[in-house]
Amino acid sequence: MDVYILGIESSCDDTSAAVLRNNVMLSNVIAGQKVHEQFGGVVPELASRAHQQNIIPVVETAIRNANIDKKQLSGVAFTRGPGLLGSLMVGISFAKSFAWALNIPLIEVDHMHAHIMANFLFEPGEDRKLPEYPFLCLIVSGGHTQLAVVNDAFNMEIIGSTIDDAAGETFDKAAKIMSLPYPGGPMIDKLGKVGNPDAFSFAKPRISGLNFSFSGLKTSILYFLRDELKKDEKFIEAHTADLCASIQKTIVDILVEKTEKAILQTGIRTLALAGGVSANSALRSAMQQLAGKHNLDLHIPKMSLTTDNAAMIAMSGYFKFQKGLFADLSAAPYATGSKR
Ligand code: KG4
Ligand code: ZN
Repeated sequence: MDVYILGIESSCDDTSAAVLRNNVMLSNVIAGQKVHEQFGGVVPELASRAHQQNIIPVVETAIRNANIDKKQLSGVAFTRGPGLLGSLMVGISFAKSFAWALNIPLIEVDHMHAHIMANFLFEPGEDRKLPEYPFLCLIVSGGHTQLAVVNDAFNMEIIGSTIDDAAGETFDKAAKIMSLPYPGGPMIDKLGKVGNPDAFSFAKPRISGLNFSFSGLKTSILYFLRDELKKDEKFIEAHTADLCASIQKTIVDILVEKTEKAILQTGIRTLALAGGVSANSALRSAMQQLAGKHNLDLHIPKMSLTTDNAAMIAMSGYFKFQKGLFADLSAAPYATGSKR
């Protein structure tokens, strides 16, 4: 029998709802929040308020777009964490009431687990190969940078993590230093397309093993620009494309270097990407090159499924539904950490 899962995502500044039929995405509605742009970053109080305004229309649209009746739903999956507490609470409270009213199971989902599971989502009529277990996954988002060995949907081992900033955070901070609009990652990607990635070079971390570090790079960008601006106050405007391309290349090189190390160390032949930074064009092509070099099977989510969305929450929820792993009505959000 077909399983219909409603997914709810509200961990940061996107309110999203999606409906899956088994692993097929019937709808995926995402309402972004423009209100944060003027502040150059997400303002938690404003995010909670916008979620409160968006949640019902977004869910209604997701159910309508899926062309199903809400009575057909088999379960409701929601993001429990990590994320902003006030934002999470809006989605969680909605999911609880909805599941309770329909008398269907409630499923809690870890946001980072869901990013990985985005690799298993299908569009209607789509046919492609699924990632084979075990696979190596590079998880790169605004708050996380990790390398994981995914043995199956419920068993994964983190073999590398950032010891300071995350890759997405580094893109965003670099953009902020250059006074580019928020969110910085997509902006650096866009502006860097016409720039020379070898125009400038920045400090790369020297840490052994599979852990990442990005705080030194951030400082290196800051000091470099401070010195150049002393000589020419229009330096950033005059070199925006080259700066973006060079910063992007440095971040991508750091990610690729550790991923290659993990491939050689584990001998795993399947590689996947997950998280918002996997939307980055330079990272996507560098990973394709890496996969070609080592003859790996590579999986990267579709662009629309790389950044925060509820389809990935519903996907992770579908795996839990099949195992009967349900949450109870007392489920409360967590801000940090992970409960994969
Ligand atoms: O996964 P995500 O949507 O939210 C979190 O769970 O954090 O990731 C957001 C991060 C932000 O730092 C954003 O700047 C970055 O992903 N990002 C990108 C691109 N698109 C989103 N970074 C670089 N290039 C992009 N095209
Ligand atoms: Zn995310």
